Amino acid sequence: MLAFNTREDVEVDEAARTELLRASSEAGHGVRVRQMGDADLERILELRSVVRWSADPRAFDLLRGVRDVRWAVAEAPGGALVGMVGAVPLGDIGILCHLAVHDEHRGSGLGARLSSWAVAYLRSRGARTVRLDSTRRAERLYRTLGFGEGTPRTVYQTREPRRLRVPGRADGHRVETLAFGDLPEVYGVDRWSYGADRSHLIFATLRLHPGLGLVARDSSGRISGYLIRSTSDRTTRIGPFLAADPGVARLLLARALDATGGAPAQATVTGPAGSQAHVLFEEFGFVGHTDRLRMELGETPGPAYPVGLTHYGTTPYLAT
Ligand SMILES: CC(C)(COP(=O)(O)OP(=O)(O)OC[C@H]1O[C@@H](n2cnc3c(N)ncnc32)[C@H](O)[C@@H]1OP(=O)(O)O)[C@@H](O)C(=O)NCCC(=O)NCCS
Repeated sequence: MLAFNTREDVEVDEAARTELLRASSEAGHGVRVRQMGDADLERILELRSVVRWSADPRAFDLLRGVRDVRWAVAEAPGGALVGMVGAVPLGDIGILCHLAVHDEHRGSGLGARLSSWAVAYLRSRGARTVRLDSTRRAERLYRTLGFGEGTPRTVYQTREPRRLRVPGRADGHRVETLAFGDLPEVYGVDRWSYGADRSHLIFATLRLHPGLGLVARDSSGRISGYLIRSTSDRTTRIGPFLAADPGVARLLLARALDATGGAPAQATVTGPAGSQAHVLFEEFGFVGHTDRLRMELGETPGPAYPVGLTHYGTTPYLAT
């Protein structure tokens, strides 16, 4: 049962959902939903340019390389690809992403069919919560499918980050470049703090952006934070970014921004306004705005926060 709606909402949603799924199973005039293969790649790029879909193409490229990620396409009679969706299983949490339907095929239930395909795949991989970042356009569709509002999400950006004078160490914590040898420990801390397994995603990010990870350790050598950045089109994208306390978070962010030489930067913060993460990014001159709505279906993800390190920034890759 959904964790985010009242009983009354759920009953209303249930009727709407049944009707939508009934309609969508008959919908699409012979359109077939099937798993995407390598041969579809070129036509996927075409579809993406036609729908002018706002998701970052770099997320598609990176997620394609992550183990167990699956994609479905909707294929019209004649072979044209008219829709797609991605499903990223991370253990208890599964991510639905990159849902898009060609303009000429909208409003006949294809979006619902593709979403249901992704939810079914993620559930088959053990997801207890399915999460996504919804565009305004898709919000109602997801609500009808049973998704409710998840943790608020704010995108922080700056053209020129403030370069603050932050000492190299604070309270015995030191920051170093993340080495591949640190990864098993980082994966463990990340799983404990995030509540699901992002190891494949972290590895794929570092493989594409080697040397751009930082790790903080306390005086006993234990990991007290880490930050991974990626760069594209001169913009630095920050995340995942976790730290034990605001002091460690400042050390990591100052070091990361210093290394970019003042280039524009971006990070996504989850959690209510006024939390430590918001305060930190504002201190460094970032301005926040909300665009997509984070939505979830299923159980509230565990472990209950605050366990492990605090999240200062998510990964830059769609709801992960
Ligand atoms: C969002 C998007 C994927 C929806 O695709 P779609 O195929 O039109 O989705 P559906 O047909 O399943 O549902 C769309 C609407 O049609 C309605 N509908 C579905 N089947 C229907 C039918 N047989 N008869 C009448 N209405 C129907 C749905 O109830 C829904 O209504 P709502 O938006 O008011 O809730 C599509 O608009 C798109 O690609 N947008 C751009 C990219 C984007 O925003 N992606 C979302 C990323 S999170």
